[in-house]
Amino acid sequence: MTLTIRELHPGLGAEVGGIDLREPLTAEARDELRAAWSRHGVLVFRDQDITDEQHVAFSRHFGNLEVLPERDYTEDRLPEIFILSNVDEKGEILPTDSAAVTFNSLTWFWHTDSCYRAIPSRGAILHGIDVIEGGGGETRFANLKQALAEMPAALRARIDGLKARHNFVWMRMHRDLAPMKPEEAASVPPVEHKLVRTHPDGSQSLYISPVYMERIDGLDEAATRALVEELTEWASRDRFVYEHVWQPHDIVMWDNTWTMHLVMPYDHGHQRRVMHRTAIAGTEAVL
Ligand code: SIN
Repeated sequence: MTLTIRELHPGLGAEVGGIDLREPLTAEARDELRAAWSRHGVLVFRDQDITDEQHVAFSRHFGNLEVLPERDYTEDRLPEIFILSNVDEKGEILPTDSAAVTFNSLTWFWHTDSCYRAIPSRGAILHGIDVIEGGGGETRFANLKQALAEMPAALRARIDGLKARHNFVWMRMHRDLAPMKPEEAASVPPVEHKLVRTHPDGSQSLYISPVYMERIDGLDEAATRALVEELTEWASRDRFVYEHVWQPHDIVMWDNTWTMHLVMPYDHGHQRRVMHRTAIAGTEAVL
């Protein structure tokens, strides 16, 4: 097996060829993929019609897997599979006011996965099962290393040393979602992370997950919202962003430590979108 890696955008993203994810991964290919994942932030594998079991097996090569705190959206058989879908088990599109569709549309806001954990997720692997062709439902990824490196000095000076509180329960309340079950809420207490993250190799990135950011150190609610918006607007400029246009059975793997992402809105009452995701647990706090 000879892997090919083709850059998709100057900021981040590469397409990987020469691999069949249904087949066991060799140690050599795994190491090449790990290096490409760290380097490009987002890896795209085209035309990989894998089962959930193969998805989980492939994901385990990159670390331990997380289980979402809300078990309504995980596979009963394989809880490591998080289901993002607007379609029920019979294949019918769900009502737009259903809990699953509302929950799903949270992905339309910029975020990085599991920022509500003390040790946030390292990365995620998403399988596009039923994808929208012809507008809407694209996933955008922003390079937060580049966004920090090119940030105007005055903005950078305002965030150096600051921490933000990321809060899953607050995010749900703020977005008018039904309260979580007490045991689920207790499993995700608020956590604080620095806005400027230093990685083990010494590189730095912005660390923001706008939809979960309840409060920034020393700022009141209005000032927090204004700064979160300013940082989001800065980091989501075109030159920092790769937009993935889905084809059936694309697998997209991203690094959550220095990218954030969002899904472009679509007509969820009429356009079907079914995605299965695993999340690779992190191994280090945001330092
Ligand atoms: C996610 O936000 O984790 C999923 C992104 C997508 O559905 O494209």
